[in-house]
Amino acid sequence: MIQVSNLSYGSAASPILQDVSADIPAGQVTALIGPNGAGKSTLLKLIARQMTPAGGSIRMDGLDLVQAVPAVLARKMAVVAQHLSVASRVRVRDLVGFGRWPHSAGRLGPADHAAIANAVELFDLGGLQERFLDELSGGQRQRAFIAMAYAQDTDWLLLDEPLNNLDLNHARNLMAQLRHLAEAQGKGIVIVVHDLNYAISWSDHVVALRDGQVAFQGPVAEAATAEHLSALYQTPVAITRLEGQVFAQYHR
Ligand SMILES: Nc1ncnc2c1ncn2[C@@H]1O[C@H](COP(=O)(O)OP(=O)(O)OP(=O)(O)O)[C@@H](O)[C@H]1O
Ligand SMILES: [Mg+2]
Repeated sequence: MIQVSNLSYGSAASPILQDVSADIPAGQVTALIGPNGAGKSTLLKLIARQMTPAGGSIRMDGLDLVQAVPAVLARKMAVVAQHLSVASRVRVRDLVGFGRWPHSAGRLGPADHAAIANAVELFDLGGLQERFLDELSGGQRQRAFIAMAYAQDTDWLLLDEPLNNLDLNHARNLMAQLRHLAEAQGKGIVIVVHDLNYAISWSDHVVALRDGQVAFQGPVAEAATAEHLSALYQTPVAITRLEGQVFAQYHR
């Protein structure tokens, strides 16, 4: 479990996160939702220890993330940021290989090559392996970075808006892969997502932020109600069930 306790970030005059406490379950898919500017990416970066909180604490499976050494963190969690900086003259296969660094320290062995091949196949990058990153479409590049994170083979995977740029097929495939990783391998998955249908029909758990604070959280079936979602986005959201599936309607 990731235990976020009384976390704050930013100055007292202009706080970005205020007193955020959340329990994110291991072995499940958690959707981090909320309006633009709510603090989702900030929370993810604090968990990823890319930034230092102003106050509060974060524990990951009992490990204090402020104290943990980088080598331990790199085996514990993999992160894909919202804005991907592109080292353009890197080939897809090499990028995925970078994910193996915590295991290989730069000398790729048979287990590393197997993990890279597996990630390439899983994220449908077979035909793109030899391409440079700046020769890819936005969605292809997104998948390459997710494959790199997957190849890192960590207990936790944190993905900031992984569905951005993905077509229907690849978006659905990604969510199915993430569910599989949670269910079959017990990985904890945290995704920032704006599409409520992906959030409610593919996730187990939800943490909703608004104005730097937790608006609501809990198992999707209990927490992601029409009332909560409408208030969160200040726009009418209806929840309907059709053939056993849950849908959020907010287009009109
Ligand atoms: N480097 C920064 N300096 C100052 N303020 C920042 C910085 N980065 C983000 N912010 C502010 O912090 C708040 C939270 O930003 P954050 O990126 O966490 O939002 P978000 O929920 O991820 O939004 P989005 O859905 O648009 O990605 C916003 O008000 C934003 O303007
Ligand atoms: Mg963001």
